[in-house]
Amino acid sequence: MPNLWVRKSIAALKSEAMETHEHGLKRTLNATNLVMLGIGAIIGAGFFVYTGTAAADHAGPAVALSFVLGGIACAFAGLCYAEMASTVPIAGSAYTYAYATMGEFVAWLIGWDLILEYMVGATGVAIGWSGYVVSLLHDLGIDIPARFASSWGQAMIEIPDAVADQLHMRHGWTALTDSVIKLLSEHNIDYAGFPSATAVINLPAMLIVALVTTLLVIGIQESAKVNNVIVIIKVLVVSLFILIGARYFSTANWGGKFIPDNTGNFGDFGWSGIFRGAGVVFFAYIGFDAVSTTAQEAKNPQRDMPIGIIGSLVVCTLLYVLGALVMTGVVSYKLLSVPDPVAVAIDAMGLRWFSYFVKIGAIAGLTSVVLVMLLSQPRIFFAMAKDGLLPKAVSKVHPRFRTPWITTIITGVIVMTAAGTIPIHVAGELTSIGTLFAFAVVSAGVLTLRIMQPEVERPFRTPLVFFTAPMGVVSSVLLMATLPGDTWIRLVVWMAIGLVIYFVYGIHHSVLGSRRPAEPLAEVGSASGLS
Ligand code: ALA
Repeated sequence: MPNLWVRKSIAALKSEAMETHEHGLKRTLNATNLVMLGIGAIIGAGFFVYTGTAAADHAGPAVALSFVLGGIACAFAGLCYAEMASTVPIAGSAYTYAYATMGEFVAWLIGWDLILEYMVGATGVAIGWSGYVVSLLHDLGIDIPARFASSWGQAMIEIPDAVADQLHMRHGWTALTDSVIKLLSEHNIDYAGFPSATAVINLPAMLIVALVTTLLVIGIQESAKVNNVIVIIKVLVVSLFILIGARYFSTANWGGKFIPDNTGNFGDFGWSGIFRGAGVVFFAYIGFDAVSTTAQEAKNPQRDMPIGIIGSLVVCTLLYVLGALVMTGVVSYKLLSVPDPVAVAIDAMGLRWFSYFVKIGAIAGLTSVVLVMLLSQPRIFFAMAKDGLLPKAVSKVHPRFRTPWITTIITGVIVMTAAGTIPIHVAGELTSIGTLFAFAVVSAGVLTLRIMQPEVERPFRTPLVFFTAPMGVVSSVLLMATLPGDTWIRLVVWMAIGLVIYFVYGIHHSVLGSRRPAEPLAEVGSASGLS
């Protein structure tokens, strides 16, 4: 009889983690690589796109406080991830931690949920990448045909440069979304005569996924090197933005108040707006947890996992808070509800030349986010397949490259297809809700393990765990509550599909579930899964 609550023992996981053999994953990553991977995954569309929306629609200049709140919420979860990743340094991340603390059923649910973070996340960011690349190429005089630059059926129009300048819009071809129609109508601009087209496929988005997948198959060390270069470019661009922007900063741009008055609706400015803004910019923090999926490729995971996770989170929080202060200090927040708010801020400084660098920085940022997400997902599939919850055949490591090549290619092909065909707005909120769910489970798991197995050796211990871990759960659930109802419905549908797959396949093929309780690798929990 299969057992839904069977747990992996920490001892078995530790020895699995320490296994190094010539056909296994290769241990090459040091602490710097891990911090760079974290930053690689973190700074992307969240900063380059959503900061503007959060400021213009919810928090005003106080979006900097939204970033502080988001950073604090992530710090709780980040400290819990750091303890788990140093205690059980294995590729499956939250999936494995749940397997050790709450049993196989919850582990499967979290593994399934993480697809929302990594695969759906990579899809959304690849589509954002395409938008920035098309725009930069337009600036350079190269136009990608609109039919091949957006999802199937998407109406596109070409905004004349003069109109784009006037309305602070992205130049060239753009999707005719509701917000674009609203903006044009508000300014009485008749767009009926603008060149238009209906898109067929998003080729640039597919291209970036294909390139990154190829790199990831070739090697983790090679991927880390490319990531390092990209991260240096994007951190440089964000830092320059802050340094140069500070010279143009003026509180006059705040329109009188750092925290604009609430309009009467929850979430529209005032303190409730700061909280709603934190829900929006949470997307900007997603990614520090991805570091933990490379635990089996780290040279010294016990020491370096916490450095990678906490280090990248601290650096990015600092850049975000300063970046948000500069953005709303050089231009009125009311003008920032655009796909490229950083470029708008630079235009306000009168430094057009610098906006090319920012676009390059944004493209670099989005590239590394896609890279780390496409690196993380196959490692979770890899761990699930080794456990028998997915077909074992996909858990093969490439004999020469020593990468999980089959799961990498499967992930790449699915994400490529999705990025070529679905619209961007579906992806963002689904990514946030999936990630927050995993954060809540990992935070709860740390506390569970502390209570149930206090004797386990923990190279990194979450400080004030009886406060930090519950706060990790509470802040994740609160941020989930800020997301719209249809995102919740999508989450429930997605999890229901996962349940069906588990009961049709996973439960019958589980390596641990099919062991007898007395066998050493497993611990069999009670119905609660906790004892
Ligand atoms: N944090 C990542 C981004 O902002 C997901 O793109």
